[in-house]
Amino acid sequence: MIRKRSLSILLAASLSLGAITASAAPVAPAGNQNSEQAFDNKIVKRIKVENIYNHIAELSKNPRVAGTQGEKDAVDYIKSQFESYGYETELQPFTISSYTEPSLKELSIDGNELETNTFTYGVNGEVTSKLVDVGFGAPSDFEGKDVKGKIALIQRGGFSFAEKILNAENAGASAVIIYNNADGVINGTLGEPNDDYVPAVAITQEQGLALKARLDSGETVTATLKIEGAKSEMATSHNVVATKKATQKSTNQLILVGAHHDSVDGAPGANDDASGTATVLELARVFANSPTDTDIRFVTFGAEENGLLGSYEYISKMTQEDYDRTVGMFQMDMVGSKDAGELIMYTNAGEKNIVTDLGAAAGARLANTGEAIPYGEGGRSDHVPFAEVGIPAALFIHAPVEPWYHTPEDTLDKISLDKLEEVSKIVGAAVYQVARPDTPALTKAKVAPKEVDYVFEDRELE
Ligand code: BES
Ligand code: ZN
Repeated sequence: MIRKRSLSILLAASLSLGAITASAAPVAPAGNQNSEQAFDNKIVKRIKVENIYNHIAELSKNPRVAGTQGEKDAVDYIKSQFESYGYETELQPFTISSYTEPSLKELSIDGNELETNTFTYGVNGEVTSKLVDVGFGAPSDFEGKDVKGKIALIQRGGFSFAEKILNAENAGASAVIIYNNADGVINGTLGEPNDDYVPAVAITQEQGLALKARLDSGETVTATLKIEGAKSEMATSHNVVATKKATQKSTNQLILVGAHHDSVDGAPGANDDASGTATVLELARVFANSPTDTDIRFVTFGAEENGLLGSYEYISKMTQEDYDRTVGMFQMDMVGSKDAGELIMYTNAGEKNIVTDLGAAAGARLANTGEAIPYGEGGRSDHVPFAEVGIPAALFIHAPVEPWYHTPEDTLDKISLDKLEEVSKIVGAAVYQVARPDTPALTKAKVAPKEVDYVFEDRELE
């Protein structure tokens, strides 16, 4: 477990941050602009956007669902690309659970069929028995009730579906029906597989309250539930990690540049997030031969779509030393769709940090539109676990996102070379601003060359 950064580092970081953002004045006059651009050019002129496009083409041939062969193929491709640029590359494996939906889910009450739903990670089974109302399904709700071999009728709320089901199993129930506490059907998950679960189905609030009323009036109600074909399995996902060591007088600082390589089921994920992964690869290629005084780690995460599992795994394996010396994390997710909005930098708490400062400054230096890149508040990608442990992190994304998000239409033909070029150059220049040998270490002085006026924007993603 990593220990949160010390006060002195936090202070130093906020001092450097203050130095960059103290003024809300408009973009300052050129000043050392030319020499800054000369530095940017060392990176941006070498970025070949066709390389990014070609990586997306390769990665988006098939879905890359975490734990499947599709993901493994992508991981092997990413690793071999990193290695071809000369990086020492590490695969970080971790276990995830996958779930196959049941092929059959049936519920009948006294012989009458009812629409029903099951829970992700729920188990198969066939049970016919009497219903017993056990309130919210807390352990105390079972006291004094004979639920042995019966079906527990439980209301949603208070604590998790999994706990309700395990409490019922503990009390000897052979199945569970959970009814909603609001309108609509329950689309729930038990979070993880567990052999102790008893079969469980979900019904609406209306259906549940009707059953409860019958039980309250002393009626005997018999239910049959049947679930077939569900399957919980463990699988292995991977993070891919390539590290560039400082080439000279190292500041011993570390910058992370990341994206997630997995996609959702059925989606080729050309933009989500082959685009970010491909950009990480191209930046890694360009940085491989650039002099830096800062270590840079290029990481593609697995199982982002399962709940940011790869980035949480990365944090859990991070050494205290690496944690202490990490100055920022740049996440790129959905950075190439021609049908999405403009570039924005999201932070988990909606506050500026050194990553957004660097991104905004780089954007201003490279801009041909004259428009600053705004920042906003947003989670939903791998920057979140880093922000949660106090590492400055930001998500570079175009918002609003395109209509093809998480659909089979998230394909190569929707990719814009211009968008890829903009993001790769801005992130490349921002990273180089810290990593290039002539800038003082981040904790000692400001690194952004000039103050930039970039603003908070309350922009919706979808
Ligand atoms: N690329 C998306 C992030 C995203 C953010 C999409 C905002 C659309 C709008 C990411 O891969 C994703 O889909 N994330 C999940 C959350 C995650 C914790 C499972 C999501 O937003 O549902
Ligand atoms: Zn994504």
